[in-house]
Amino acid sequence: MYPFTAHPRLLPHQYSELCSFLEKISGIVLGEGKEHLISSRIGKVLRDYRLDSFSELLRAIQSDDNMPLRMAVIDAMTTKEANWFRDQSHFMMLQNVMTERAGELGAFRIWSAACSLGQEPYSIAMTIEEFRRGSRFFRRPVEVVATDLSEGIIADARKGVYCSLSMVQGLSDEQRKKYFIPNGDCSEMRPDLRKMVSFRKLNLLDSFAPLGRFDVIFCRSALVYFSLANRVDVIKRMAVALKPYGYLFLGAGETLEDGAGLFEKAVWPEGVAYRLKPLRRVNPESVK
Ligand SMILES: C[S@@+](CC[C@H](N)C(=O)[O-])C[C@H]1O[C@@H](n2cnc3c(N)ncnc32)[C@H](O)[C@@H]1O
Repeated sequence: MYPFTAHPRLLPHQYSELCSFLEKISGIVLGEGKEHLISSRIGKVLRDYRLDSFSELLRAIQSDDNMPLRMAVIDAMTTKEANWFRDQSHFMMLQNVMTERAGELGAFRIWSAACSLGQEPYSIAMTIEEFRRGSRFFRRPVEVVATDLSEGIIADARKGVYCSLSMVQGLSDEQRKKYFIPNGDCSEMRPDLRKMVSFRKLNLLDSFAPLGRFDVIFCRSALVYFSLANRVDVIKRMAVALKPYGYLFLGAGETLEDGAGLFEKAVWPEGVAYRLKPLRRVNPESVK
């Protein structure tokens, strides 16, 4: 067994095998130059699972029976960086959409796809709370569904507890006072806001059908790590998961690629969102 702080060297072919595994399971394509980072993160997985070598780990993750280990490897290889109210304009545009759709029937449904540790869906919940308080016209029930790849991330997001300074970046003092309860050195999201969000595990490569249809989908800073083919596939299936004229918010710098034919730009003073075109060009039967 190697010393506690060190780990075996990750060989180039082992790094490629790990990258292939990650792409197959999650759609994420890791570029060049991440070997060192991945080696130290996966080294921790070796220690946690008491494995002696990367080849042992690579053998073990081939088996479907090793789900916890597989998820630990994926967790170690994915970027979970998220901020509160990242790209403010999306939260302002969300209020525009709520105004626009206030008169429609049924629940106003929002999906935070790739929600990481919850900052995005809880920022949505705070936005809705503020908006509802200020609007006499919006009376629709609201549902926020938040999904991510790993059970571990979802379990942490559900708790809504944020401890380090970096975890509360993007929140004003006023928002922290209003929407969080102090919990030791940590800040805990208010229970009524936590209840607004229903978290579940969902891989973006899998079917979206169990989630139902949405007025708005936030899919930010996840597809940027996917191959073009997977990005296009996800965007097409998101078009099917949207209600007529529903909106898709992508991360800064992310583009629609070939899915562009399905959406048109909605330009507001606050920014640009993508709105599903009236004519549905995707046959829901043709996508999973
Ligand atoms: C950088 S975070 C983005 C968080 C949030 N959307 C935001 O913009 O603040 C990327 C998230 O995408 C998730 N992710 C990556 N691949 C995924 C997949 N195939 N299915 C679901 N989530 C995935 C990761 O677990 C991670 O939490």
